[in-house]
Amino acid sequence: MKTFHSHVSTFMFIFSLFFFYPFVSVAVDTITPTQPLTINQTLVSHGEVFELGFFNTNNGSLYIGIWYKQIQQLTYVWVANRDTPITSSSGNLTIVDNDNMVLVNQVGTVVWSSNQPTKAVKTVAQLLDNDNFVLRPENDEKLENYIWQSFDYPTDTLLPEMKLGWDKKSGITRRLQSWKTSDDPTIGDYSFKLDTSGFPELLTLKNETRIWRTGPWNGIRFSGVQQMVGVDIMQFELHDNSDEISYKFEMVNNSIYSRLVINSFGVNQRLVWEKTTKTWRLYWSFSKDCDHVGILSRVGLGD
Ligand SMILES: *[C@@H]1O[C@H](CO)[C@@H](O)[C@H](O)[C@H]1NC(C)=O
Ligand SMILES: *[C@@H]1O[C@H](CO)[C@@H](O)[C@H](O)[C@H]1NC(C)=O
Ligand SMILES: *[C@@H]1O[C@H](CO)[C@@H](O)[C@H](O)[C@H]1NC(C)=O
Ligand SMILES: *[C@@H]1O[C@H](CO)[C@@H](O)[C@H](O)[C@H]1NC(C)=O
Ligand SMILES: *[C@@H]1O[C@H](CO)[C@@H](O)[C@H](O)[C@H]1NC(C)=O
Repeated sequence: MKTFHSHVSTFMFIFSLFFFYPFVSVAVDTITPTQPLTINQTLVSHGEVFELGFFNTNNGSLYIGIWYKQIQQLTYVWVANRDTPITSSSGNLTIVDNDNMVLVNQVGTVVWSSNQPTKAVKTVAQLLDNDNFVLRPENDEKLENYIWQSFDYPTDTLLPEMKLGWDKKSGITRRLQSWKTSDDPTIGDYSFKLDTSGFPELLTLKNETRIWRTGPWNGIRFSGVQQMVGVDIMQFELHDNSDEISYKFEMVNNSIYSRLVINSFGVNQRLVWEKTTKTWRLYWSFSKDCDHVGILSRVGLGD
């Protein structure tokens, strides 16, 4: 019996190698003109931090999204075609004419595109370990030569290295916009942006009406957000110079995941992934009705 078992387990071992190997070997991070992303495939960033692929909502609409590879409860951090879902059962994300990236539905209609002027270079689209999904020349990985990047078109989530605010060189203003409901990525009523008209500060807007503000940057943090004091796992940065007025954060240790979200109820949440409990721990959250408006009022910043 012992021999039989060990044969069985040897067989199982070889079988599992055989069975899993093909999946491991096709884990790619890049779409090329000859290799589109089809419905049942995903891209996985080089260090296996993020995964990009198709996902369905309850009513069967199909979207391209990015989620954390290592977190089982899917946490979407970016959605491409949030207002133009595919309503058929299939689609392809592909590079056309060695140029732009397009998402086509089952009958080949383009529902979403990177929509950049033609550059006449052979392009590839790559998912990076920082969540940025970039369209770049095939043989050129330099950041300044990206043709298009998802970081310029955030959904409802700010991740380390992403910027909110105004890029004066490209003219792009980056803001977060909530999902319509927790299971519908369609653009909702709430947004979260860096106000660059005066002393820079973050604002939550309901449609275009301001409902919450952080108070201006005081050199270290936003003055109305006392929760930022003593947080030592991340660093907050505000840049105000001739190139940009922007806000971003970085993790001291990149193996700790954190995200800043504007949810579909207009609540601004700072979350940190706890590996031991496998849950997103809430560091702070703000909405119009919460206590913290009181703090803002006391320092004279309330509405
Ligand atoms: C994708 O996977 C689903 C479920 O595994 C399967 O039913 C479907 O036929 C697959 N589609 C394609 C195009 O491979
Ligand atoms: C997607 O691309 C694959 C491979 O090129 C092709 O066989 C398939 O018909 C395409 N599907 C759609 C929906 O365009
Ligand atoms: C259902 O699908 C439509 C697209 O046909 C989309 O606009 C709508 O927001 C979706 N609703 C939900 C709850 O997913
Ligand atoms: C916000 O704007 C959307 C579309 O412009 C509208 O449907 C919605 O009712 C507005 N919400 C509020 C609270 O004004
Ligand atoms: C980062 O955190 C991980 C655990 O989450 C730990 O194993 C690793 O040593 C840390 N790295 C540094 C440079 O502190």
